Amino acid sequence: MKHYTSIHDIDNIKAWIEDAKALKANPLQHVALGKDKTIGLLFFNSSLRTRLSTQKAALNLGMNPIVMNVSGDAWGIEFGDGTVMDGTTAEHIKEAAAVVSQYCDIIAVRAFPTLTDKAKDESEHVLKSFTKYASVPIVNMESATGHPLQGLTDALTISEHAKTKRPKVVLSWAPHIKALPHAVANSFTQAMQKMDVEFVIANPEGYNLNPEIIGDTPVCHNQEDAFKDADFVYTKNWSSYEDYGKVVNKDANWMITKEKLGHAKFMHCLPVRRNVVVEDAVLDSDSSIVIAQANNRTYAAQLVLKKILEDL
Ligand code: CP
Repeated sequence: MKHYTSIHDIDNIKAWIEDAKALKANPLQHVALGKDKTIGLLFFNSSLRTRLSTQKAALNLGMNPIVMNVSGDAWGIEFGDGTVMDGTTAEHIKEAAAVVSQYCDIIAVRAFPTLTDKAKDESEHVLKSFTKYASVPIVNMESATGHPLQGLTDALTISEHAKTKRPKVVLSWAPHIKALPHAVANSFTQAMQKMDVEFVIANPEGYNLNPEIIGDTPVCHNQEDAFKDADFVYTKNWSSYEDYGKVVNKDANWMITKEKLGHAKFMHCLPVRRNVVVEDAVLDSDSSIVIAQANNRTYAAQLVLKKILEDL
């Protein structure tokens, strides 16, 4: 595999899940594969899980990870073509990506959307510029429209915890105090569409995801109806796609409660705001599998890095 930028880079999700489980059973079995190879992790935005689990994954493969908070510590990067750089940006992505490629065998990038400019966000200008101007493979650590390391993690976690052959999985919107990206919900939807699950999206009117992402997946505007007989409830807030980047509804009635959850397992990519998105009683119960889910970030990332290293 050359790059991992989207869930669409997964050719066979069932096989990938089995491979990730094998890595999890014996994480150091390929520790020689990444010897003398360096991965650069470039963060334009904050992170706890992605930053640590991707480093851990690289270390499990014998790689040397180097990490940079690009927004705070690097020169301001210009992405426009032909720009007269007399403003705040001091270095063009053409040089920046080429230079980082001199130090790293793989580059992983986190760059969130503006949530104000839909066309710019959907062009994935940061991720695509790295793919274009770097000479080494690129891994998406959450971009404007996707979080494929998280999506693969979530598929692995559902496979591990499923009690039936074809579980019912609900992706539920939940309230939040500020506008959040669509990336996690998009990649989760795309991952579930590749899995053998009964998949439903539940969100209030005005919060439908990009129709191209939804595809044939049923969307239900009644949370109670959607949760009926659910085995997994994956919760995430996202801002409006139609009224792009806006918070059009903060309906507290969509918060996840123990009563609503029933026998279903609760999933969330984290970080999560307690008693806004989900009540304490859920997170503090056996119904929550968010920590197991976060643990799986390492093995999803490790599988992706292994596949890239094998093709270097
Ligand atoms: N789920 C996730 O990507 O967590 P971080 O933002 O902490 O990396």
